[in-house]
Amino acid sequence: MKVLLTGGTGYIGSHTAVCLMQSGHEPVLFDNLSNSKKDVVQAIARITGKEPAFVEGDIRSKTLLEDVLRRHEIDAVIHFAGLKAVGESCEKPLLYYDNNIAGTVCLLEAMKACAVGKLIFSSSSTVYGTPSALPLTEDMPTGTPTNPYGRTKLMIEEILQDLCRADPGFSAVCLRYFNPIGAHESGLIGEDPNGIPNNLLPYVARVASGKLEYVRVFGNDYPTPDGTGVRDYIHVVDLARGHVAALDYAQTHAGWEAVNLGTGRGTSVLEMIAAFEKACGKKLPYRILPRRAGDIAANWCSPEKAHRLLGWKAQYGVEEMCASSWKFEQLHS
Ligand code: NAD
Ligand code: WQD
Repeated sequence: MKVLLTGGTGYIGSHTAVCLMQSGHEPVLFDNLSNSKKDVVQAIARITGKEPAFVEGDIRSKTLLEDVLRRHEIDAVIHFAGLKAVGESCEKPLLYYDNNIAGTVCLLEAMKACAVGKLIFSSSSTVYGTPSALPLTEDMPTGTPTNPYGRTKLMIEEILQDLCRADPGFSAVCLRYFNPIGAHESGLIGEDPNGIPNNLLPYVARVASGKLEYVRVFGNDYPTPDGTGVRDYIHVVDLARGHVAALDYAQTHAGWEAVNLGTGRGTSVLEMIAAFEKACGKKLPYRILPRRAGDIAANWCSPEKAHRLLGWKAQYGVEEMCASSWKFEQLHS
């Protein structure tokens, strides 16, 4: 299939591009480079042996999107493009609503104009809000995300539900990612956030490479086995494989579906630090700080539906996640 990847040069988009190419699909990367670099296209070419098509542009430009959809005869869209910093979304909510929601509506209009009826959407476990029970399953009601970023994900899921009700031929698969980490085994693509990382793993990686002094552990008084927050970390390469499986599913199924992508296992902050110490072969200093506002104690998913519907299962554990993230950090220091 010819697949448009909005946000295609980003962290998850670039890994998915590799996986799609290795599965015989033809991705077209579309990105405004607000949070990624064009060099990623060359890195993908080094991994796959073929340079994917790249178009620099913004999803809020309908004419450009229509032109790309027609010119490349696109069959389906995987929609990664979006802003994702939780703290920034509280400071600049309108930016998030414009970029993520208005951008998605613009993309959907362009798809309608070009009769492209298959969309895979990057959703998030954040749509569940504070879990009332674990593991999280897709039939549990969505909750109240604690920030504007999370609300954009929930609103987009609802927009896609409305669209599928109005147009029964449309296929929308909302992939609810848990905590994606790790990098491609080549070390050529990975996550390289600007400034001080918000997320745990990029922060830990920078402590390991000496760029940051110590890991800040946000709270050790949660009702979890060691008191620190528990999350369902998933290797980005497994996540990428999940998109290829979702694309295959969308080829033969119409309607709206939400599917969790996680391992089904929870790991605490202290366990992640220990796993990274093993990967990098050194002790990593950490300090216990107060809880971070808006954090939940624990979440992990049931990956059952992904297995049943998409035939997908995560293959990697935290060891591979930390080892690949460390390799990427070393090559990009
Ligand atoms: P990323 O920032 O690396 O990738 C997003 C890409 O979208 C970037 O390359 C950015 O330049 C591009 N972009 C942003 N706004 C755009 C616009 N208006 N037009 C065109 N391109 C635009 O982030 P990522 O981690 O790869 O996340 C991809 C998607 O997955 C996002 O929608 C994110 O919200 C979602 N998600 C990420 C995580 C995570 O922890 N990484 C978890 C759940 C969901
Ligand atoms: C993980 C654990 C922290 C940093 C966020 C978004 C979510 C999704 C994934 C996009 C928590 C603790 C963290 C640090 C720490 N993104 N922590 N020190 O908050 O689960 O999810 O990213 O959709 O929407 O909210 O991920 O990596 O920030 O935190 O102790 O420096 O690590 O308290 O328990 P989170 P995270």
